[in-house]
Amino acid sequence: MTSSATEDVDERAPRPGEVVLESHLTAEDLAAALRDDARAGLQSTPKRLPSKYLYDERGSRLFDEITRLPEYYPTRRERALLELVADEVAEVTGAHALVELGSGTSEKTLLLLDALARAGTLRSVVPFDVDAVTLAAAGRQLAARYPGVGVHAVVGDFERHVRALPRTGGRRLVVFLGSTIGNLEEGPRARFLADVAANLGPDDAFLLGTDLVKDVGRLVAAYDDEAGVTADFNRNVLRVLRRELGAELDEEDFDHVARWVPAHERVEMHLRARRDLRVAVPALDLVVDFAEGEELWTEVSGKFRRESLTAELEAAGLAVRRWWTDPDGDVALSLSTPVGPARAAG
Ligand code: AVJ
Repeated sequence: MTSSATEDVDERAPRPGEVVLESHLTAEDLAAALRDDARAGLQSTPKRLPSKYLYDERGSRLFDEITRLPEYYPTRRERALLELVADEVAEVTGAHALVELGSGTSEKTLLLLDALARAGTLRSVVPFDVDAVTLAAAGRQLAARYPGVGVHAVVGDFERHVRALPRTGGRRLVVFLGSTIGNLEEGPRARFLADVAANLGPDDAFLLGTDLVKDVGRLVAAYDDEAGVTADFNRNVLRVLRRELGAELDEEDFDHVARWVPAHERVEMHLRARRDLRVAVPALDLVVDFAEGEELWTEVSGKFRRESLTAELEAAGLAVRRWWTDPDGDVALSLSTPVGPARAAG
């Protein structure tokens, strides 16, 4: 592909060794989104907040700690599975570009990138994350680890900017790991998958990591660990509201709750008020009352089955070509490709 200085950066793949940063979201956009979401969520019944606000710097650090807890099996299991199948993914896809949705520094993605590099097809990486700081660091690390590979880092929200992901760079493999898709409820999930399908070209593929439905005791323990790290992680959102909105919320006024909801096959995290509370939120010019025992819903973590996930992907226009599970059957990876538009009968 030729490129010239006048060409728009979005129109070409990054050159080998080049790091390009593209942003769909500013810090002001994020602050405004938090105000809107908190205003709506704290006044709705039940009270709720989107789980993305759990992940400020401290929250991301706590999540990292969670991935090493004995109870939290998904990260270990997915890494073990990727070690088994990365070369096959590279072979089946022959991808030139790897697009990673959310989590720019994931060591699990490195297993895939190493496999594509071994196969000799890797030319560019597109890390996509909501946090510009994480992303810039990831971009630099990727450029250092894979000399000759171009990096096109994109700041965006996976619920809003997936359709706008760069489509340059040859055959692409779009990757969404860690069962993060489980954070989306059914409707948003269908929209997200449709966005992915709309962004994929006929030769591209989508690798999705999902946690599977299993023994309820193990599922709940993964979100309610003995050491209390997940409880800290959950309560961290109260600090975020305090810092960003001046909300007069205290960690010691809320219990961490993790529960399995069979009707939706998901684990939910909530924060339950230990007593009646009246909470001022100065930045929103709002006062919020909690009755003792009332809950603030902070996260949903959907768990999946092969049949229903295949049907969801199909509804979005994606056909599952490969399905792998780890030796214990705890998590799955699916590799899908777009179902081309029906050809005109001739
Ligand atoms: C990063 C969203 C996949 O839902 O398992 C871990 C987040 N929350 N423990 C998950 C999380 C509580 C995690 N995801």
